[in-house]
Amino acid sequence: MVDAGAVPKIPTGVTWHSLQPREERWVRLGQRPVIAWLTGLSGAGKSTIAVAADRTLVANGRHSAVLDGDNLRHGLNADLTFTHADRSENVRRTAEVARLMAESGSVVIVSLISPYRADRAVARRIAGDIPFLEVFVDTPLGLCEARDQKGLYRLARAGRIPGFTGVSAPYEAPESPDLTIATEDCSTEACAYRLSTLLLRLSRGGEAAAQRR
Ligand code: ADX
Repeated sequence: MVDAGAVPKIPTGVTWHSLQPREERWVRLGQRPVIAWLTGLSGAGKSTIAVAADRTLVANGRHSAVLDGDNLRHGLNADLTFTHADRSENVRRTAEVARLMAESGSVVIVSLISPYRADRAVARRIAGDIPFLEVFVDTPLGLCEARDQKGLYRLARAGRIPGFTGVSAPYEAPESPDLTIATEDCSTEACAYRLSTLLLRLSRGGEAAAQRR
């Protein structure tokens, strides 16, 4: 377990190195970064939407990447459990990586349950001046549970997964998300299209922005 509450002190001698000006980098890349933070219950469709939107972005010549909660828990976040503190740390680390990738000009699509409002606010803070969209993948618990693609809801109801989001641990829905994708109302393609259209628009060209300076 990691103590996520503590803000680590920067050790003596550890300095911040200035990097190549990012505007110049973005102009050369021909796009601007944006972070889309998808939050929602397990089985809501976050990963599917993220992957489909990412495909569309790449097909349109954008540099894009997906940071998926399940995937990150295979490596970077393999040491984290599902306690509140570890979920907070999961969000913090993922937001830091998203920020670094975005600084290099990428569109970054994060797909993490990230059940706590305060943690998502931390993610937004970490993004700094990089455009950050909180995207609520809104699928009712009943539907996630009926689908139960991984069989986890059944196990959670049987008490075999303690602290399962939506069953025995909270999910705090966004109060004012930048985009809500109600998956009941659209096909996967249509849901992903809503996200990719927005991201294509927001990541358009670095040239114009550089000229404005
Ligand atoms: S988060 O809450 O810390 O943001 P994250 O997105 O990384 O979650 O991982 C969620 C995945 O872990 C889910 O897709 C689900 O399959 C699995 N999982 C295992 N245990 C739990 C649990 N207790 N609560 C929610 N998801 C869980």
